Amino acid sequence: MRFLAEAWQRQPVLFRGAFPGFIPPLSVDEVAGLACEEEIESRLVLERDGATPWEVRHGPFGDDDFAGLPDSHWTILVQDVDKWIPDAARLLDGFRFVPDWRIDDLMISIAGDQGSVGPHWDDYDVFLIQGAGRREWRIDERAVTADNRLPDVPLRIMRDFKTSRSWVLKAGDMLYLPPRLAHHGVALGDGCMTLSVGFRAPSQSELLDDLLNERLLGERSPRFQDPQRSGGNNPGLIDAASIRDLRALIESATKLAPDDFAAWLGGFLTRAKPGIALVPLEEEPPTVESVHDWLRTSPEWHRDGAARLAFIPAGTDGNHDHHAFVNGKALALADDELALFEALCATTRYASDALIALTPTPRGRALLGRLIGEGLLNAPE
Ligand code: SIN
Ligand code: CO
Repeated sequence: MRFLAEAWQRQPVLFRGAFPGFIPPLSVDEVAGLACEEEIESRLVLERDGATPWEVRHGPFGDDDFAGLPDSHWTILVQDVDKWIPDAARLLDGFRFVPDWRIDDLMISIAGDQGSVGPHWDDYDVFLIQGAGRREWRIDERAVTADNRLPDVPLRIMRDFKTSRSWVLKAGDMLYLPPRLAHHGVALGDGCMTLSVGFRAPSQSELLDDLLNERLLGERSPRFQDPQRSGGNNPGLIDAASIRDLRALIESATKLAPDDFAAWLGGFLTRAKPGIALVPLEEEPPTVESVHDWLRTSPEWHRDGAARLAFIPAGTDGNHDHHAFVNGKALALADDELALFEALCATTRYASDALIALTPTPRGRALLGRLIGEGLLNAPE
């Protein structure tokens, strides 16, 4: 794909008219409604008129908050809309040329005239789709530095931003920005809505922290030993042999056997954010005997927006087993379950007949029944 080869992680791209006649999955009022929900993460950014410049307030918001909005310079941002709204999850399907584990969420912002979250840079790639109204995006292509930020404001806002290029986006236009490219989006007029397809990329410290917590803590953690110690050095010296052994102790922590590494990694990469989970089926999960009848109750099924699926087939990285992952949980897959799980991962919408054809064996039917019980599939709304 040309975009991946030429621009992904490298340079901004404007896609004028990417979504001709674009109708966003939610209206501005509906996005405001989501910002009132207890379980949905939302923020209000007030450039002026707050207690301090660039005040950030966290949702859920109520009628008073909306009544008290200033005439301009405000933005409300709602995170993870794809996890709650099926039509928003569908929009992400168009970005699955990048694997699911790299996709974070669909965030939607609504803004009054001049609304902005300030000049800043993000650690992640983003596609910014204009949903309604107009927004001017400016970028500063100079390398970003950690010290280029305003002191004492709750957001990372750059002190020094020099526009090198700018574009005005209207509904259906889309701008791709790679990580660490400084940008500043300002609403031109009221009724501005921007949908951000955000990605994730684990940092070295996040990976090590999780590996440590999940795999290495507690009694299994090997301890430094020095049976070969020879005396006679300055008591203050940390000698070369000790340094070598301590370094080796750290390095050996990441040298897991391929199956252990795969089982941990897939769990880490598919774990949902706190507060986001599949909702288990209210009724008894379908059994090996009943799962096909259960599937026939709708001609089509949709994967729940909160589901994070991934798999690592045997042999990918020297691993002997197939590993499947559902929202951080690892499942060992037998050969005859792999095709089913691959099909579940390949798309987010499934014909009942296809799912029935994919589960000729009792083991496959049991796996599907279990995933249905965990809340993986919904009938279309
Ligand atoms: C916005 O939607 O206003 C902010 C998106 C961003 O700059 O990352
Ligand atoms: Co940004």
